[in-house]
Amino acid sequence: MSEATIAVFPGDGIGPEVTAQAQAVLENCGERFGAAIRFVEAPLGGAAIDATGKPLPDDSLALARSADAVLLGAVGGPKWDDPKSDVRPEQALLGLRRELQLFANLRPIQVHARVVEAAPLRREILEGVDILFVRELTGGVYFGQPSERRQGAAGREAVDTIAYDESEVRRVVELAFGIARERRKKVTQVDKANILATSRLWREVTKEVGAEHPDVELEDVLVDAMAMHLLRRPADFDVVVTENMFGDILTDEASVLSGSLGMLPSASLGASLNSFGKRSGLYEPIHGSAPDIAGRDLANPLGSISSAAMLLRHSLGLEEAAVAVEAAVSGVLDDGLRTADLRQPDTRQVGCAEMGAAVIERLSR
Ligand SMILES: NC(=O)c1ccc[n+]([C@@H]2O[C@H](COP(=O)([O-])OP(=O)(O)OC[C@H]3O[C@@H](n4cnc5c(N)ncnc54)[C@H](O)[C@@H]3O)[C@@H](O)[C@H]2O)c1
Repeated sequence: MSEATIAVFPGDGIGPEVTAQAQAVLENCGERFGAAIRFVEAPLGGAAIDATGKPLPDDSLALARSADAVLLGAVGGPKWDDPKSDVRPEQALLGLRRELQLFANLRPIQVHARVVEAAPLRREILEGVDILFVRELTGGVYFGQPSERRQGAAGREAVDTIAYDESEVRRVVELAFGIARERRKKVTQVDKANILATSRLWREVTKEVGAEHPDVELEDVLVDAMAMHLLRRPADFDVVVTENMFGDILTDEASVLSGSLGMLPSASLGASLNSFGKRSGLYEPIHGSAPDIAGRDLANPLGSISSAAMLLRHSLGLEEAAVAVEAAVSGVLDDGLRTADLRQPDTRQVGCAEMGAAVIERLSR
């Protein structure tokens, strides 16, 4: 295997703390699985505003473009929160999404058997939950034009536009079916086809793609019903594919199932292929920069470490290494180690660095 280049953007708040643990895990996997990995670090978000005046400096963007994958911590914090400021840390995320054409956001939601008590729903509802959301990320109402406020005959009015063309729908749905074939072979497509024309296009295209994958079961579910199913019977879903705004809302709803934000990883896959013939992508935990606990070794690094596992799988094609990291994460939870966000009886509280070291120790067993 040739050398992989990973751009590392630790970002702000707890970003550098959790990213350091994920990077250490990747380094360890590189040695263990014979993959040479080179890390190149650059500032992003608030850290980059402080260093260069820009949330996404040109050098950082060039690095992201040339890398095989990007590992990101989190950006933002009170220091850069002035709503009147022209530069804000989140602009870096939107810029990366746009420039790297990150069209598919993957968010796995799993509930570890030993962490079930930390979640807000009953154990019997959460047992066996293993959902992979595939959210379209570069189209829909967040990007459709016109999107504006204006003065109308009756006073102030505003308009937003949802627009999708079939190629945008097809590429993300094809990705979802491809992933479902490696999992439990079920795709749930979520829409509002009883009202929206774009949703009816999603249904049509998904059905066409589904016909090419007869081994994968396909169901269509209305988004309002899905919001309820996720709380009543989340274990029934495998791969869930949906448009940008529905995915934004449903993935946040589903994130509470796992018990802590700190546990959950994500991948945003790009349109282009990297030097391994895999999709380049951006990998980050779903949580933010958690300024309330930053710099105190309190953060849970497992979301970031699990994002590194997704990087190994989707951008480097190292499935065996990805499975090993996921097993190690599960293993440390089985061993009763918990960071402060997951306090449970009969467990041992550890800091961010000790949790990371425990994952590496588990990997070497
Ligand atoms: N992708 C990103 O970079 C991203 C995403 C969300 C929010 N943000 C930014 O992060 C900042 C803080 O946002 P917020 O407070 O709404 O969300 P947050 O996710 O940072 O924190 C929410 C709560 O969860 C806790 N938490 C989050 N991650 C944790 C972890 N790994 N371990 C333990 N506890 C954890 C925090 O302590 C806090 O109490 C804001 O500036 C926001 O804009 C960035």
